[in-house]
Amino acid sequence: MKVLILYYSTFGNVHEMAKLVAEGVKQVDGAEPVIRTVPELMPDSVIQGNKGMKAGKEKQKDVPLVTEDDFRQAGAIALGTPTRFGNMAAQLKNQLDQLSGLWMKGELEDKPVGMFVSTGSLHGGQETTILTSLAPLLHLGMIPVGVPYSNQELFVTKGGGSPYGPGHVAGGDNDRPVDPEESALCRALGKRLATIGSKLQSG
Ligand SMILES: Cc1cc2nc3c(=O)[nH]c(=O)nc-3n(C[C@H](O)[C@H](O)[C@H](O)COP(=O)(O)O)c2cc1C
Repeated sequence: MKVLILYYSTFGNVHEMAKLVAEGVKQVDGAEPVIRTVPELMPDSVIQGNKGMKAGKEKQKDVPLVTEDDFRQAGAIALGTPTRFGNMAAQLKNQLDQLSGLWMKGELEDKPVGMFVSTGSLHGGQETTILTSLAPLLHLGMIPVGVPYSNQELFVTKGGGSPYGPGHVAGGDNDRPVDPEESALCRALGKRLATIGSKLQSG
């Protein structure tokens, strides 16, 4: 059972989170993480002119772009995005906006889906980003999955993460590492999506 981990990242934080979600997927027998990204929409001149962006993009240069078949073959999907004014990044939304072929055939219906997000600041909108992202995901017929309070890290996280999904506080310079609690919640989402996806496929 494949779990598609589809993300967009400018500075590399959400990419790090995607790898942690993949670790959680691998904890489930028979589940295989598939990490993919989406096309960049910012001009290359903007990226090349910013040290942090350039370094973030360099780390992701080998990540393949997602295809329609990646969506089709996935038994569960994790979507990762930096927060942009309390919403998902346009780059990820642009990819979702190209799903009408699958939408019209109902091919994404009944697939579990979870979101993971990164913000610059502590109260910068992780929860709004996930909640506002639910609208398109519900239109597509997917089943939203978060990380419930059986994950003790939710009680003690000093960075990101909520029952709505894993979160990371990247800091004003986008260089704060994903901390142990944030990492555990990323793994928990991967494991939960893989477990639920496997159950749905076998049921
Ligand atoms: C246009 C723009 C809007 C942003 N909006 C927010 C925001 O609403 N709240 C916040 O905390 N951070 C905001 N940020 C900071 C990003 O969320 C932060 O750079 C990101 O989480 C880093 O993830 P990445 O390393 O994967 O790119 C914004 C950044 C940009 C460029």
